[in-house]
Amino acid sequence: MTATAAPVKTVQGVTLRLDPAREPCFHVVHTDAEMADWPGMSDQSRRERLHRHMNNEAAALEIAAQCLVDFPEAPWDLRMQLARQSADEARHTSILLQRLCELGGRKGEFPVANFEWCVTLMVDNLPGRLALENRTFEAGLIDILGSLRTTWRAAGDATTADLLDGILADEITHVRFANRWIKRLTEEDPRILLRVAQAVHYLRAVNDALGPQPGDTNIVGTTFTQERTQAPAVYVEARLEAGFTQDEVLEVLRQAGFRSILPEELK
Ligand SMILES: [Fe+2]
Ligand SMILES: [Fe+2]
Repeated sequence: MTATAAPVKTVQGVTLRLDPAREPCFHVVHTDAEMADWPGMSDQSRRERLHRHMNNEAAALEIAAQCLVDFPEAPWDLRMQLARQSADEARHTSILLQRLCELGGRKGEFPVANFEWCVTLMVDNLPGRLALENRTFEAGLIDILGSLRTTWRAAGDATTADLLDGILADEITHVRFANRWIKRLTEEDPRILLRVAQAVHYLRAVNDALGPQPGDTNIVGTTFTQERTQAPAVYVEARLEAGFTQDEVLEVLRQAGFRSILPEELK
């Protein structure tokens, strides 16, 4: 289902789009097990979290921008949304780099992986890409950020917590426009629903093949516990704000073992 003759790579038998270009200072890896991340909020862990998030925001920019290049025939309003998203993601990348440097970090300090790009860019149609990047990866980021800003605040870093809060507000808009456009496009042409389903099925297969299993460890010896491999607690209010229906949120909740972000975590 890959577009044209795009360059690909093979990771543990799975074919993925070749990584986007990165500056020589970055060490690009291909699986979660090759990432150097730690639990807790040590200084090193804080820098790695910002470094990883920074690279993911860069990838979100690259995915949205590549969609503009690959689908020039897409409706103008949708292209404008992708262009606005690109601008948002560029800003997110930049403010995370700035915060990383303020905390004594630097570009390339830790390995980076480009999983979202490598998976999403295997899909050859725009609704399918929106279903993966915006409606799955970024919706997952909404859940993660809902908890993470509280983690940073509890660790005494209100500056980073506020920064993540701002990013969260933008991510809700990115998920919302994807939800609206997928709904509109499938209403106009029900066959598009099949493309969306194929993309989601493909992601599930990749996750099954490459996702870490409980008990595995990464290169710095951190164990992938049951908690770390399960879906994050669901930020129900934000997902509803982002255009998911109550039934869809219920399904996400079911997948997360009915764990949701509690009201006291949102203060
Ligand atoms: Fe972002
Ligand atoms: Fe985004």
